[in-house]
Amino acid sequence: MNWGMIDKYAKSLIKEAGHIIRNSFFRTIDVDTKADANDLVTNIDRDIERFFISRIQRDFPEHKVLGEEGFGDDVQSLDGVIWLLDPIDGTMNFVHQKRNFAISLGIYLDGIGMLGYIYDVMNDELYHAEKGEGAYFNDEKLPMLEITPLSEAIIGVNASWVAPNRRIENGPIADMVHKCRGTRSYGSAAMELAYVSSGRIDAYLSLRLSPWDIAGGMVIAEEVGAIATNLEGEKPDLLGQDTFIVARPGLHSEILRNHIKLK
Ligand code: IPD
Ligand code: CA
Ligand code: CA
Repeated sequence: MNWGMIDKYAKSLIKEAGHIIRNSFFRTIDVDTKADANDLVTNIDRDIERFFISRIQRDFPEHKVLGEEGFGDDVQSLDGVIWLLDPIDGTMNFVHQKRNFAISLGIYLDGIGMLGYIYDVMNDELYHAEKGEGAYFNDEKLPMLEITPLSEAIIGVNASWVAPNRRIENGPIADMVHKCRGTRSYGSAAMELAYVSSGRIDAYLSLRLSPWDIAGGMVIAEEVGAIATNLEGEKPDLLGQDTFIVARPGLHSEILRNHIKLK
């Protein structure tokens, strides 16, 4: 497989899609809801997924696509080459803020992440990595992450897990929030993975993410030495929803050991 050629191709597709998204603000954006009233999708999410799929099917007919909006293949196994795509990660931000959303793409071979991309569309900032070749922020190589203690760490976490809930013991999470330097919640899992990879935050955790939210970011994060697992410390499921944590080494095990008690 010529990964260098696929990398160039994917980057140009992403840039073209970004251009379409930025221009969409001059068109009407139709907003629908999916699983619940706060789970938003727009005609632009759908158009962008269809744009990727039509190109991939034309130029790489043997590859499969697993896309959030369901226009891709019915992927039941990770065999072969699979493009895991979230056309807009952070749709609520896209609709409400017109910023803080990303295109998230991972290209996997037999379940192994080979290429990863997170494109911050409004800032024209591309985080990307090829397995074994390091990770980049635009053309700048990202340094390996160093160990940071919890007391000096900024943690990406949604405030709802600090209140009593049915999925996780909130006491240990509240304890983590007290002990860390600060918390952030950006509303785009892909951007939070990009921020961990580039050292802007030190860890990010979530109780339910889908393969397309994390596939691209995991390739980037692993190239800078971050650890990405589910909240049980195992490889996240790339065929279904799962819990998720990505963090600097050291911090990952400290959070899992002392602050995560799933119900
Ligand atoms: C969502 C965002 C959000 C995360 C949700 C995802 P979407 O993706 O990544 O940060 O908390 O779980 O579903 O719906 O905007 O593509
Ligand atoms: Ca998403
Ligand atoms: Ca999405």
